[in-house]
Amino acid sequence: MQNFNWNFPTQLVYGKGRLNEVGEIAKNYGKKAMVATYARGGFLDPIIERVEKYLTEAGIEYILFTGIEPNPRAQTIDKAIEIFKAENCDLVIALGGGSVIDGSKYIAATAFSGGKSWDYVVLGDRKPREYTGAYPIISIPTISASGSECNAGGVITNAETKEKSFSRSAYRYPKVGILDPELLTSVPLSVTKDSTIDIFSHLIEHYLSTNAESEFADRITEGIILTLKDNFNKVINNLEDLQVRSELALCSIFGWSGLQALGRVGSIPMHSIEMPLRYSTW
Ligand SMILES: [Fe+2]
Repeated sequence: MQNFNWNFPTQLVYGKGRLNEVGEIAKNYGKKAMVATYARGGFLDPIIERVEKYLTEAGIEYILFTGIEPNPRAQTIDKAIEIFKAENCDLVIALGGGSVIDGSKYIAATAFSGGKSWDYVVLGDRKPREYTGAYPIISIPTISASGSECNAGGVITNAETKEKSFSRSAYRYPKVGILDPELLTSVPLSVTKDSTIDIFSHLIEHYLSTNAESEFADRITEGIILTLKDNFNKVINNLEDLQVRSELALCSIFGWSGLQALGRVGSIPMHSIEMPLRYSTW
């Protein structure tokens, strides 16, 4: 068993219909929010409109930043940071999947601390810049995959240097994660399959990549994998099953929350080769 520090500071607001609490929750953390999300025109559009409605009803000012792409680019994040500062925002609401939530963490922490998003990324022997703080983040995951909704990690891509890397900072834990399984029922089958594999990959890569011993971590990991397997078999037959979507959501969060790694820290080497494989002709 290795030594460790661990906490789970994000408040989980969990359950059907709880998206409608976003305005009241946001009031506790800021006056003007940047709602960061993907480009309009997809299945998230009705959800974006609901968030706008709830914020308006609660008297929270907001701006939408809709340009975050899958595998978010540092250049896009930097554009968002400029807008965030110019608009005097003081809160980021991340509405989307892992890419949006990761990108939002860089927006919130870099806008607070200064510089560019890429300055803070771990890169070879370079000593990354350290944040001095972060604006608060509320995450609203619309897919179960990355676990980013309740952890401090974040991966971004540099489109200029064609590099992809990560960083982690305790400042970037979302204050609140609003996990409404109703939002997850609109995720298409192919994306549901891919995202479930992502969760499995976090768990199994970590499980197999270290010899450190923690029976507790092993049993947690095995339990999540079994839950994932059972509910994957169900969700492919009924994408709108709320109970199943709820189970997968917890697998996403706790599959990469650190709970599955207590006393036994491994790595995710398969994730590291994803970028070169996918973008070998980039
Ligand atoms: Fe992943």
